[in-house]
Amino acid sequence: MAMPSKTRILLGISGGIAAYKGVEVLRGLQREGAEVRVAMTAAAQKFIQPLTFEALSGHPVYTRLFPDAGDPDIVHVKLGEWPELILIAPATANVIAKMANGLADDLLTCTLLSSEAPVMVAPAMETAMYRHPAAQRNLQRLADMGYRLIGPEDGALASGRSGLGRLADPERIVAEAVSSAVTFGDLSGRKILVTGGRTEEDIDPVRFITNRSTGKMGYAVARRARQRGADVVLVSGPADLDQPAGVEFIRVRTVSEMRAATESAFEGADALVMTAAVLDFRPRVVSDAKIKKNANGLTLDLVANEDFLVGLGARKNGRIVVGFAMETENGLPNARKKLDEKHLDLIVLNDLNESGAGFGVDTNVVTLIDGDEAEPLPKMSKLEVADRILDWVIDRWTQTPRP
Ligand code: CTP
Repeated sequence: MAMPSKTRILLGISGGIAAYKGVEVLRGLQREGAEVRVAMTAAAQKFIQPLTFEALSGHPVYTRLFPDAGDPDIVHVKLGEWPELILIAPATANVIAKMANGLADDLLTCTLLSSEAPVMVAPAMETAMYRHPAAQRNLQRLADMGYRLIGPEDGALASGRSGLGRLADPERIVAEAVSSAVTFGDLSGRKILVTGGRTEEDIDPVRFITNRSTGKMGYAVARRARQRGADVVLVSGPADLDQPAGVEFIRVRTVSEMRAATESAFEGADALVMTAAVLDFRPRVVSDAKIKKNANGLTLDLVANEDFLVGLGARKNGRIVVGFAMETENGLPNARKKLDEKHLDLIVLNDLNESGAGFGVDTNVVTLIDGDEAEPLPKMSKLEVADRILDWVIDRWTQTPRP
C-alpha cells in the first residue's frame, strides 16, 4: 500500500558515521510521496553538512534550539506540532539514552518531548555499545513508550569489524515508515475503550492475590489506537509501564473498580478491546487486620468475581467488542466458546504454550477468531498485533453502517 501523499515526516539525524545514509532515507521517503523536514544534532553535522539535506529537502535544516533575536516562534514547539511521524535514522546510543530519559538539551530531543507524533527509531552503533546493558535498557524503554525500533542489522561497522549494530538498510527503514504511515488517522472520530494490566484482590492489609499480566498488550492497543487518530480511554489495573501519550488514563486496582470504570466509559465508546487480566476469584472475606502466621497454614476461601465482559457484550448495541482468551490447552474450542458466551465480535487467542507469547514479552503469537474464521498470525510485536486487531475493527466498520 502506498503512503498517503504529503505525509509530513520529520527526519532526525544524529551523529554517527551512518548519518550519510540519512540522504538515502530522505530520498526514499520523498519517492513515496512524503513531505520531509530534517533536524540534525550537532554531532551529525560533523559527519555531513546540513546543506546536503537542505538542498534535497528544499527546506532549511533544523539545527538550533534557540531562535534568532526577534523571532517570536519557539522552534521546538512548532516543529513538534508539524509532523505526522518522527523518524530518527540513524539514532546513536547517546540520542537513544536521551530519549529514554526525557532529556532535552538540543533541538531534536526537545522536539521529541514536545511532540505527540508516533516515533520510529533506527539505531546504529558498534556491537559492544549495542549490547551494553545501559543501551539495551534504554532501547527497551523506548519500546515501552511505544516507539518503533527498526533494526539494527548485522553487518560491517564503522570500526571495520562486523556485527550487530549496523543501521538497518535505508530501503527497509523507508518501507517500515510507509507501512506505519498508511494507518494515520484511519481511526479519527472513533472512541476506543481499552482495558489492560492485571487486577488485584486483597486478602488482608498487606497481602493480595494477582496474576502475571504486565499490561504490555493493552498498552500497545491503546497507543496504536491513539496514534491512528482515535480518542482512547485506557482503564488500567496495576502495570509497570509508562502511560501512553494523549490517552485518557483511568487507574484501577480491583475487579470491581475496573468494572465500574469500564462500564461507565463503555456508554460513549464505539469499540471495547478487553485485554485486561481480570481475576476470576477474590477472597470471600478481606481481613481488616494482618493475618498472623499459623503453624497449620491458611486456607483461602475464594468466591467468583463477576465476568463483566459478558454483561457488556450482551448490551453492546452496535459497538464492537473484542475479548482475549488466554489458554494453555484446547485453545481454539475454548476461545470459540468464550466468543459465543460473551457475545464478542472478535476473540484474540493467546496460547501460552507458544514461545514469544503471553506475559512480559514484547512479542505475541495470537489467532484472531471471528465466527467460523480463525486467522493464526505469526510471532510479531505487540504493537503489530494491536494494529492487526484495529485493522479488523476498521474492516468490520466498513462492512456495517455506523451505530
Ligand atoms: N474477563 C472478564 N471478567 C472476568 C474474567 C475474564 O471480563 N472475570 C474477560 C477478559 O478480559 C478477557 C476474556 O474475558 O477478554 C477472557 O478471559 P480469560 O481469562 O481468557 O477467560 P475466562 O473467561 O476467565 O475463563 P477461564 O479463566 O476459565 O479460561
